Amino acid sequence: MDPELTETQQLILKTARDYAERVIRPVAADLDRDARFPLEIVKGLAELGLMGVNVPAALGGAEAGVVSYSLAMQEIARACASTAVTMAVTNMVAEVIARFGTPAQRERHVPRLTSGEAVAGAFALSEPEAGSDPGSMRTTAERTPRGWVLRGQKQWITNGSYAGVFIVWARTGGPGTKGISTFLVEGGTPGLKPGKHEEKMGIRASNTVPLTLDDCVIPEDALLGEENHGFRVAMMALDGGRVGIASQAIGIATAALEEAVAYARERKQFGKPIGDFQAIQWMIADSATELDAARLLTLRAARMKEGGVPFSREASMAKLFASEAANKICDRAVQIHGGYGYVRDFAAERHLRDVRVTRIYEGTSEIQRMVIARNVLG
Ligand code: CAA
Repeated sequence: MDPELTETQQLILKTARDYAERVIRPVAADLDRDARFPLEIVKGLAELGLMGVNVPAALGGAEAGVVSYSLAMQEIARACASTAVTMAVTNMVAEVIARFGTPAQRERHVPRLTSGEAVAGAFALSEPEAGSDPGSMRTTAERTPRGWVLRGQKQWITNGSYAGVFIVWARTGGPGTKGISTFLVEGGTPGLKPGKHEEKMGIRASNTVPLTLDDCVIPEDALLGEENHGFRVAMMALDGGRVGIASQAIGIATAALEEAVAYARERKQFGKPIGDFQAIQWMIADSATELDAARLLTLRAARMKEGGVPFSREASMAKLFASEAANKICDRAVQIHGGYGYVRDFAAERHLRDVRVTRIYEGTSEIQRMVIARNVLG
């Protein structure tokens, strides 16, 4: 245990690690094989306070800060990347409502997320034609005497079939980023229609669906934050979300490296363990170094967010570096395992499939570079 961690951070880390080792890791390969959403495990995360790690205790959160959240995400992802993304999006949704919601909105929705009653949260920003460029979204929200009416199509909605609380972005004004508002929609609202579960390459036990908003009527007070100022809410949420995905990438890569090291010690070729060969040693040295660098960048971003200072650039750096490094580390883990790395008997194969998406969601590596370059160049 790192002595620089506070007592709270150590407690959250230990809680997440124990649960991950005892309950999640033993079933992770089965969940992946069957593409099965781990409903009971997700409820267990809520019981341990891990669905609102950085959410005030008054709203049912653990109020343990961003560093604790990052550490918990790393531990859960080390056991199962699918469970980790379910947790990441739910924490992000709970935090956004806790931060931008009215007292009534907070009290209505956040405790349902932190307690597990709502199962999970969903973040409905992307659309079929608006992924990296959410400012071009087409979903609309019309103010009517019945309330707001949402119409449109969302895409890649994590937790969409299970979520009890959705944050949905829709156009309420003119074109571009300035005409977008944020709304709270409860799961099961008529007109909110999750589509067919996507057959993904990795994180197969997480739920990803398209979402149709078919004349979905929500109350007047479902507007979260100011009308036409929703784009900023999404961007601020994603800054925090990127610390979460960096942490997920670190967790997956940690597992891959641990398994590669164990294999290199035990596997013998040419009369000695393959770890005695420099070719394998260099791969392990590069992976260990890159993993530490990813941890430090992510810890910095988490500390900055916790300290209340602008951290957008640092979150993008952490997400970019951690996800790219984790992909290389998982690829090397497969290489070290040789033929056994390419079959499902060893977890290395799952890690490589799971880690690929960390370079894509919550902003591709190209988008992270755009954010960093804009910050650096001014
Ligand atoms: N914090 C606060 N405000 C911000 C901000 C930030 N980090 N970034 C931008 N803004 C504000 C700007 O200040 C600007 O405000 P004004 O209109 O008041 O001037 C406004 O937002 C528009 O900013 P830009 O002109 O920079 O917007 P843009 O259209 O050029 O886009 C972008 C910027 C960074 C490329 C953004 O579009 C982006 O992040 N794209 C990627 C989207 C993404 O990450 N999607 C992930 C989907 S969710 C997901 O994957 C979850 C899951 O399920 C796992």
